[in-house]
Amino acid sequence: MRYDTPSMMRWNARAYDSSFGYVSAHGAPLVELLDPQPGERVVDLGCGTGVLTAEIASRGVHVLGIDRSPAMIDKALTLHPGLEFTVGDGRDFTVAQPCDAVFSNAALHWMGREPDAVIANVREALVPGGRFVAEMGGAGNCAALTAALSTAWREFGLPEPDLPWYFPSPAEYATRLEKGGFTVRLLEYFDRPTPLDQCPDGAADWVRMFAGSLLRQVPGDMVDSLLARVNELAAPALRRETGWMADYVRLRFAAVRR
Ligand SMILES: C[S@@+](CC[C@H](N)C(=O)[O-])C[C@H]1O[C@@H](n2cnc3c(N)ncnc32)[C@H](O)[C@@H]1O
Repeated sequence: MRYDTPSMMRWNARAYDSSFGYVSAHGAPLVELLDPQPGERVVDLGCGTGVLTAEIASRGVHVLGIDRSPAMIDKALTLHPGLEFTVGDGRDFTVAQPCDAVFSNAALHWMGREPDAVIANVREALVPGGRFVAEMGGAGNCAALTAALSTAWREFGLPEPDLPWYFPSPAEYATRLEKGGFTVRLLEYFDRPTPLDQCPDGAADWVRMFAGSLLRQVPGDMVDSLLARVNELAAPALRRETGWMADYVRLRFAAVRR
């Protein structure tokens, strides 16, 4: 089944690692929460360029990285020869053999329009007692960024942007997990202001990387001034003397398949 929508994201795998490597850098505590044991089988869902997949593999684990973006998988295969990666969608992937854990960093909010399909697939991929350990954007994630984006779009007479993300509250996602056949063992919901160190053009760079699909619907000669306006609108909330800071809010959980 394909789920492509007009807003489907095309990832720039090269820029992702050079300018947005903080995404996987923040994933290190999540690997600790996963606590992979030698000999286990793990799926890294929405693995991107495979930085955390490799970290998990270094613990003696057999890990399969799955990502919907062929560009990300190509780069992962180049960066980590010897590791296993495949193109697949979180909403309908299957594995040859059930695994001990499914891990996912900063990816579930991209698959969220069918969150129950993702949870059901993850459950199918796990052995009974298997772990689902993940971090994703939570309710209120990037609120100032997306408010600036929506306002700029409106001011320029563009249709309301169809934001591609799903940022659930802890109560909502825990309920989905429990209904989907998991026992929630841990769930954290926290602010994580994140410096956009490698984004000299601040919020505009963030939009180019993470909301590029929305820009494809904007006339080319309007893009620069539109993004300059996003920066003006976002600056009071997000620009510090030291640089731009994204208003990230995260949901991190560990659940066990019943
Ligand atoms: C922000 S990146 C995170 C990558 C990696 N987990 C990390 O920590 O660096 C989000 C990833 O989710 C992938 N993704 C988005 N929607 C997906 C889907 N429906 N199924 C599988 N992967 C998806 C994207 O292609 C992208 O590589």
